[in-house]
Amino acid sequence: MRILLIGPPGGGKGTQAKNLMSKFNIPQISTGDMLRKHVKEMTSLGIKAKKFMDNGELVTDSIILNMMKERLIQKDCNNGYILDGFPRTIPQAEGLDKLLNSLNSPLDKALVIDVNDQSIIDRMGGRRVHPSSGRIYHIKYNPPKEKDKDDITGEPLIIREDDIKETVKKRLKIYHQLTSPLISYYSTKNILVTVDGTLSINDVYKSILKKIND
Ligand code: AP5
Repeated sequence: MRILLIGPPGGGKGTQAKNLMSKFNIPQISTGDMLRKHVKEMTSLGIKAKKFMDNGELVTDSIILNMMKERLIQKDCNNGYILDGFPRTIPQAEGLDKLLNSLNSPLDKALVIDVNDQSIIDRMGGRRVHPSSGRIYHIKYNPPKEKDKDDITGEPLIIREDDIKETVKKRLKIYHQLTSPLISYYSTKNILVTVDGTLSINDVYKSILKKIND
């Protein structure tokens, strides 16, 4: 199963990708998590990416496509994967098509998690993350068992640097300009499905399972 998740920043892509990963036993491939790892390890790619990420801007298509070309040919992708946060522009989608055609492994579904901007702005102030695993919490909608601590390791949770309100607004603007055109791109390929991402985390998950099994 090869699924791609499309949605605004904070729309719940990472949260649902983790649910799907456990259910189908396929990897979640999050370009955001991959980039944050590069930034943390201060690789040359991470140093280039950091300034875009901190500003709420997209990292260049060429950096992303090169990173993904290497990732998608890894062995753990043989049975499928969940793409979370990639592609994010039409050139990235075209690059992905080219790569998947050469591997003879087309996408099965492009799944849109639809959430309006105001809900995103309300939600983002409450996100907490466990940086090394990428586990995602929300102080109100998905709280950890113990305040500000990861459920599995007990390590401290952090607030992502790009979650401040002004940066979230900028990320939303870029989403509408550069990423939402992917909705018609995948609609013309007849693989697009949409779920209402304003429902509870569990109800969004149920709708996703229904849509991908239809
Ligand atoms: P990335 O990490 O991909 O960020 P994003 O797309 O902006 O998405 P988020 O991770 O912020 O949100 P999400 O949709 O995963 O929501 P989550 O599940 O956490 O990218 C970061 C940066 O990296 C980009 O800005 C860019 O610079 C760069 N980048 C990455 N990929 C790139 C690419 N392909 N090209 C170029 N640049 C790239 O949920 C959010 C919160 O809401 C959580 O607290 C969660 O608990 C809560 N929540 C989730 N669902 C619900 C629900 N249904 N109800 C209530 N609360 C909910």
